[in-house]
Amino acid sequence: MDLANKVAIITGAGGGMGGEVIRKFLEKGAKVSAVDINVDAIAELEEKYPEHLLVTKADLTDEGSVNAVVQKTVDTYQKVDILLNVAGMAQSAKNIEDVSLKEWEQIMAINSTAVFLTSKAVVPFMKEKNEGSIINVASVSVDRPRPGLNAYVASKGATISFTKALAIELAPYNIRVNAINPGPADTKMLAEFVPAGGDEGDVKENTFLKSVPLGRLITPEDIANCAIYLSSDLAEIITGSVVNVDGGRGI
Ligand SMILES: NC(=O)c1ccc[n+]([C@@H]2O[C@H](COP(=O)([O-])OP(=O)(O)OC[C@H]3O[C@@H](n4cnc5c(N)ncnc54)[C@H](O)[C@@H]3O)[C@@H](O)[C@H]2O)c1
Repeated sequence: MDLANKVAIITGAGGGMGGEVIRKFLEKGAKVSAVDINVDAIAELEEKYPEHLLVTKADLTDEGSVNAVVQKTVDTYQKVDILLNVAGMAQSAKNIEDVSLKEWEQIMAINSTAVFLTSKAVVPFMKEKNEGSIINVASVSVDRPRPGLNAYVASKGATISFTKALAIELAPYNIRVNAINPGPADTKMLAEFVPAGGDEGDVKENTFLKSVPLGRLITPEDIANCAIYLSSDLAEIITGSVVNVDGGRGI
């Protein structure tokens, strides 16, 4: 699964999954345009891959910033083959009565609207080449919701519906659109799902870990492996699919 000569825009670069996905894409030979509001975590990769890594600090909920990142990527690497939307935010579990409109809108903005904005910006460049792969990281919680994650689950459900809608719209242009549903993953985000005042360690061990039939939390590497496959030519006939990378949590 060689990604040499492929150009990938990867969001969520500063996070647990995004950082590892970028590392693996670089190892496979891709040129990567990495985006996040916080890019500190990938500073060492910038030094290691000066020719293959372009890092931009940007808010993905802002249309102008998203358009500028995509244009900068094309100016630098001449094309975009892959868009991988990893950025997102969690929701601390709470009853619907306690969810403010502001919190709902913030979660929707990064988990759903940013996926619309990045897709809208890259599609013209992909149509030009009659080729492309868009991968959106959603969540297995859409199939197996936990109480109190109302806004989060809704935002990821919208992303899955959007993935399928774009897959059918863009198939005539040979642009594939797929989603990955991670199960509970061992990143800093996992603790952010715990209700205020909850015991993070206990919830991780006794709720999240125990919910995975294969018996371990999902790693960023598991997500990276799936993203590489979906990006590669081996997946050339796969579009509109939602792949659970979840150790069986979605069963
Ligand atoms: N960790 C889990 O258990 C889990 C499970 C299912 C799905 N997911 C999804 O996987 C993806 C990656 O999660 P992670 O575990 O790496 O989380 P993380 O918190 O480590 O990373 C998320 C990244 O998104 C970035 N981000 C948030 N808002 C942004 C904005 N407005 N503009 C630019 N960047 C922004 C953050 O700065 C952060 O670096 C997310 O979409 C998440 O919803 C995670």
